[in-house]
Amino acid sequence: MERLDKILASTGRWSRREVKELVRAGRVTANGGVVRSPEEKYQREGLDLQVDGQSVLCARYTYLMLHKPAGLVSATEDPRQPTVLELLPEHLRRIGLFPAGRLDRDTEGLLLLTNDGALAHDLLSPRKHVDKTYFVRVEGKLDQSDVEAFSGGMTLGGGLACLPAGLELLEEPDEALVTLREGKYHQIKRMLAARGKPVRYLKRLTMGPLALDKELEKGDWRPLTEAELAKLRSVPGAVSENPQKNLPDK
Ligand code: URA
Repeated sequence: MERLDKILASTGRWSRREVKELVRAGRVTANGGVVRSPEEKYQREGLDLQVDGQSVLCARYTYLMLHKPAGLVSATEDPRQPTVLELLPEHLRRIGLFPAGRLDRDTEGLLLLTNDGALAHDLLSPRKHVDKTYFVRVEGKLDQSDVEAFSGGMTLGGGLACLPAGLELLEEPDEALVTLREGKYHQIKRMLAARGKPVRYLKRLTMGPLALDKELEKGDWRPLTEAELAKLRSVPGAVSENPQKNLPDK
């Protein structure tokens, strides 16, 4: 059970003082009844909370799928460059969301934003073997020798050993799908540079069971569906157990 003011303030929309005023004005209902005091306690899961008759989404954790465009850094703050969080509305920038797994500034595609540290940790741990797939376009032509180099586990400059990775050749000789189960710094760019075929374009398509929604325009985002979240949680070792009962709106 949690205090109503804490639950409402955690949505990022109102301060605790503002919540107090909303309650005093009789504008808040919980499970159908008018809330009399901001100190009243409720079970967050499944709570039907409304302000001025509008449902307020108050899940403990938030999970967003973002189609990252090039030009933004995968960080929560940066002194010089815009971050992916700038694509979100104000209130969703105040609830501790961070990118689960970075993409380079010029890489596009699937980025999961969440404030569920435990789930993010599990998805990113190389020991959990969560595959990530990328579409890549290179300078030059890819061939079977690149496929074999990737599957054999490449060693990069400085002796950095990579786990075996997938390279699936596509119809265009400069395009392929790459599958990684780890995320070393600039890994795909470094692996392909080592093959003499520098990356010209890179886009992440999947992360474990989660695939970039084809309907999602570059720069756009949406909450994960319950089905997507259930699939993510089914990744072996994924421990988070707080279901996202409500989904945040824009
Ligand atoms: N590998 C890279 O080189 N860059 C990315 O953004 C992701 C994987």
